[in-house]
Amino acid sequence: MTDVTPVDRNLALELVRVTEAAAIAAAAWIGRGDKNAADKAAVDAMRRAFDTVAIAGTVVIGEGEMDEAPMLYIGERVGLYAKAGGGPEVDIAVDPLEGTSITAKGGPNAISVIALGERGSFLHAPDVYMDKIAVGPGLPEGIVDLDETPERNLCELARAKKCDVSDLVVCILDRDRHKELIKACRAAGARIMLIGDGDVAGVIACSQPQAGVDIYMGWGGAPEGVLAAAAMRCIGGQIQGRLILEDDAQRARAAAMGITDPNRKYSTAEMAKGEVMFAATGVTTGPMLQGVRRNAQGAVTHSIVMRSKTGTVRYVEAHHHWDRKPSAFRG
Ligand code: FBP
Repeated sequence: MTDVTPVDRNLALELVRVTEAAAIAAAAWIGRGDKNAADKAAVDAMRRAFDTVAIAGTVVIGEGEMDEAPMLYIGERVGLYAKAGGGPEVDIAVDPLEGTSITAKGGPNAISVIALGERGSFLHAPDVYMDKIAVGPGLPEGIVDLDETPERNLCELARAKKCDVSDLVVCILDRDRHKELIKACRAAGARIMLIGDGDVAGVIACSQPQAGVDIYMGWGGAPEGVLAAAAMRCIGGQIQGRLILEDDAQRARAAAMGITDPNRKYSTAEMAKGEVMFAATGVTTGPMLQGVRRNAQGAVTHSIVMRSKTGTVRYVEAHHHWDRKPSAFRG
């Protein structure tokens, strides 16, 4: 009996090569004011790079539904064994460019992200909003809860961290819909870090001491919530999410994706269960990852890769040389 599972550890480094390819391609569009071109470059590069990975993968969180998105759509088969079969059957969640607007504006914290797990690992989340709350590792399970008030969650978190609420920093997407949430957090005494975009990185920041974030709160994309849950499974942090289904069309799409209780609160392990892996490469620089640095000869990338099985977190700095790279991985 060996330790080898469908999500064998060797796959982790293969995944990084895929996020690196997407990040390098997206980086060519940093600051050019064209978020769709940046996204397309990342999607195309990620799709090509997947062709070299020894998996039979099915995209379960992707760029959209088959009729809307030409590449990496939900249900698309990817990987070296996708058509022939024979390799490990895995589910894949991707966001080739998390932070399309950030990239277009040259702002901080855009990343390319993949999570991979055994079949059935990930919540099949429709592209709707999700109410999220997340904290880092080392805290009692259920220390914060979506059904509690922001004040109460902050008090409980401060108690667990043995600090004052005024020591806490809450990361929130800078959106009008969060006005009341921001007011409530400030009234409770906490400080706020407003981010323009990119809540996968915002959630992960809770687990990164250098990011200076204690808790993430607010509505962001549901697919991004599942990707963040995969990361939190690996690091040991906690995220809770609840889908926000605003009309009949969204409720019908959720039902078609197998969501039976639209008001259900999902835990970290309910959004990303079993053995999962997570990889992300920085496109633009943030507290977690450096952005792609391109030059005439090649590029330098900075990535994080982790597995839920061991909790090992690796940072990978890769030096890429254009003249020696297969075309699928060139910028
Ligand atoms: P894109 O990369 O697709 O532009 O998403 C960025 C993002 O900020 C996500 O991180 C977040 O979950 C979502 O958009 C929030 O959506 P909205 O911009 O509608 O508030």
